[in-house]
Amino acid sequence: MQQAATVDYIYLRQLVFGQSQNVLDPTRDYLFDTRLTKVLRNQGMTRLEELVQHLKQRKNPQLERSIAEAMTINETSFFRDSRPFELLRTDLLPKLIEARRSMRALRFWSAACSTGQEAFSVAMLMLEHFPLLAGWNIRIEGTDLCAEVVQRAQAGQYHRIEINRGLPARFVVRYFDHTGEEWVVKPEVSKLCNFRQANLCSPQLPFNRAEDRFDVIFLRNVMLYFSQETRRTLLAAIHRVLAPDGILFLGSSEQPADPSIWTAVLAGGTCHFKPRKPS
Ligand SMILES: C[S@@+](CC[C@H](N)C(=O)[O-])C[C@H]1O[C@@H](n2cnc3c(N)ncnc32)[C@H](O)[C@@H]1O
Repeated sequence: MQQAATVDYIYLRQLVFGQSQNVLDPTRDYLFDTRLTKVLRNQGMTRLEELVQHLKQRKNPQLERSIAEAMTINETSFFRDSRPFELLRTDLLPKLIEARRSMRALRFWSAACSTGQEAFSVAMLMLEHFPLLAGWNIRIEGTDLCAEVVQRAQAGQYHRIEINRGLPARFVVRYFDHTGEEWVVKPEVSKLCNFRQANLCSPQLPFNRAEDRFDVIFLRNVMLYFSQETRRTLLAAIHRVLAPDGILFLGSSEQPADPSIWTAVLAGGTCHFKPRKPS
């Protein structure tokens, strides 16, 4: 009780904003108390107040990063909000495949991939419904700010509870091996995916070369933690790495901050975005 009165939550919120651009609501300050217990333990401390004092006295970028990472919300599931995946299968991918017939390559980016379910969902969709692309170069990149979730994505290992969320039974049988309560994606799925840690709000995106162009980008359920200014900057950068005929999916409650460079397309009970040439 006493601790809650003396902890400088404003400092902690500013620290998180500086590291990840995540804007935390003051009404949820209590989350610092629950989420930072591991960070405190690793520092040999017991009270948040102590941690804040320590940070104020001496800059410690690694510790600051681990605090921002501990405050991220990593909620995800396989085939989350199923409609974008259904629309890809029935309409968008057949058209993209036709357009890429001579290049025989498709690139996807699960930006803010959390523990990897979004990227693996795309991989399974490709294997299941587009087997003729076996000779194509299919790359699915997954990136996230939080090192811990990226490590989990790289391991491709899920608990029964995670497997039971959104994954059709036949996919479980076909694309996973299991021991007890743990399920691991099969190599034919994991070899299509590559995961690494990256901050979407760094001055440069993790992919920024001309050859890094993506055909489909998932930027779902992450912008809701960003300010309007951060969203605008990020979406302008995303626009630059999306192919001119590429597709952007946002979370179901998210909109591009600058509609002048995106065309919203309503189809299949969902909304996706196509890049427009900036005027
Ligand atoms: C709610 S999850 C969304 C996961 C997935 N895209 C989905 O829709 O199921 C949000 C993810 O965004 C990540 N995140 C938050 N801020 C970020 C940033 N600045 N750069 C990269 N990832 C970030 C968090 O670590 C978290 O894993």
